[in-house]
Amino acid sequence: MTARRIATQAIPGQQAGTSGLRRKTRDFMAPHFLENYVQATLNGIGGAAGKRLVVGGDGRYFNPEAIQVILRMAAANGVAEVIVGRDGLLSTPAASHLIRLNKTDGGFILSASHNPGGIDADFGIKFNMANGGPASQTLADAIYDETQTIADYGMFDAHDIALHETGTRQLGDMTITVVDPVADYAALMAELFDFNAIAKLFAGGFGMCFDAMHAVTGPYAHKILEDMLGAPKGTVINGIPLPDFGKGHPDPNPIWAHELMGIMTGPDAPDFGAASDGDGDRNMIVGRGAYVTPSDSLALIAAHAHLAPGYAQGLSGVARSMPTSTAVDRVAAAKGMACFETPTGWKFFGTLLDAGKANLCGEESAGTGSDHVREKDGLWAVLMWLNIIAVSGKSVSALMQDHWQNYGRNYYSRHDYEAIDINVANRLVSDLKAKLDSLPGQSFAGLDVTEASDFSYRDPVDHSFVEGQGIQIKFAGDARVVLRLSGTGTEGATLRVYLEQLETDAARLNQTPEDALAAVKQAADEIAEITARTGRDAPDVKT
Ligand code: G1P
Ligand code: ZN
Repeated sequence: MTARRIATQAIPGQQAGTSGLRRKTRDFMAPHFLENYVQATLNGIGGAAGKRLVVGGDGRYFNPEAIQVILRMAAANGVAEVIVGRDGLLSTPAASHLIRLNKTDGGFILSASHNPGGIDADFGIKFNMANGGPASQTLADAIYDETQTIADYGMFDAHDIALHETGTRQLGDMTITVVDPVADYAALMAELFDFNAIAKLFAGGFGMCFDAMHAVTGPYAHKILEDMLGAPKGTVINGIPLPDFGKGHPDPNPIWAHELMGIMTGPDAPDFGAASDGDGDRNMIVGRGAYVTPSDSLALIAAHAHLAPGYAQGLSGVARSMPTSTAVDRVAAAKGMACFETPTGWKFFGTLLDAGKANLCGEESAGTGSDHVREKDGLWAVLMWLNIIAVSGKSVSALMQDHWQNYGRNYYSRHDYEAIDINVANRLVSDLKAKLDSLPGQSFAGLDVTEASDFSYRDPVDHSFVEGQGIQIKFAGDARVVLRLSGTGTEGATLRVYLEQLETDAARLNQTPEDALAAVKQAADEIAEITARTGRDAPDVKT
């Protein structure tokens, strides 16, 4: 068993997007592709000698092979210890927790999140830092620079390491510690939430369906919901992680989690439904016949988090990504809490959480979390809802109705136009940017534009600055449109159009989102010429 340096050449375009490097699986399987990126990362963090890392992934196709490569490369680069989830599995929030708990120097997470898995689908890798959070923009830039100058990488010649059982192994001088992927995470959840109250709820016949979508949260949900909290067996469906997620699209929204939506709107619907994504950081919350938008879920949690023991002191502040609805802002204002608006992507929350300026964060894309880790956390959100339901004694729909009565309702919808021609998408955005200054004062679909801008952000903690983070058009009457191009897609461009309309009239809180947002949608189309330019008369996905 020896370490070698293997000659390689820079591969163009290994630039991380919203969340690490995400590409087609076959790209990752091509010679040197994964190896170059791993070596560039180890160089980018200032070398790996003597460091301790966490490694794990969501179990998708190529996860086991990629983990063996990373272990061999880590050993060749002088890493002292790697902590790896049994069978190579770790949800993204559990990996973030293990980094923090064991005070490691960071970790590799293998996942393409909610994108499908398989040899003809998607794969991804990202590096999380010692605080447990995604690489900062500065580190991401340094890693990218390394990918462009790389000339060789380290590789230890060895057989595959057995990862089926917990315990320690040696690879050269490096220790590999295989851990139960669930245990430490489950213990953390038991500290944060009132498990007794939730267990009583289940013992009293409260019905729940959790759809793990054949992704990584299956083992976590079985253990926490069924074994620890006593929910009946069968509460968790699609609980076995599969390399292709059972050919599904592990994205917890009403479109892709249609099996769960069918159950929740059917005649025997349980009280509560939830789902999580490929790597366990997203969540969907649904009551009997009552889907909760992620933006509303964030606002409701902000209003009730004090009911959970881990948050009994109240929140220090809240943060949301810019496209996320302003529902949480209204709670923050009423409670006198600080409220931050950040660019899209969890990496922008890290400094706020580290500095204690906010301890609840969320994104409209089904991401909610707190300062317990430095990632969004699907099961955390589900347990927070269960805790709120158990202590308040109210159903999901009663909680939401009360919330809208108190704070008003931010009708909200995101429309995605997928795989559109990159040139068409770029031109749509650049032409729109060019006319932003002329929009205020004009009227579209009966709505008067009050502000139009390209979102930029100066981090209030480390003062780093980013621009070009999405176009925001505000209208009189608390309506808003946001447009941006996705940074996680692997095919063509995805245009995301976010529509929002606040309603405070108590008599108008139960419209359909389509009706409430009709004018905003039309205004968005008139301003950005979406139909004319893309040739699409409807979005591919509406959430
Ligand atoms: C999407 C979501 C964003 C989220 C990211 C990673 O990024 O919109 O909120 O942080 O996935 O889960 P996008 O494809 O829009 O760049
Ligand atoms: Zn995810």
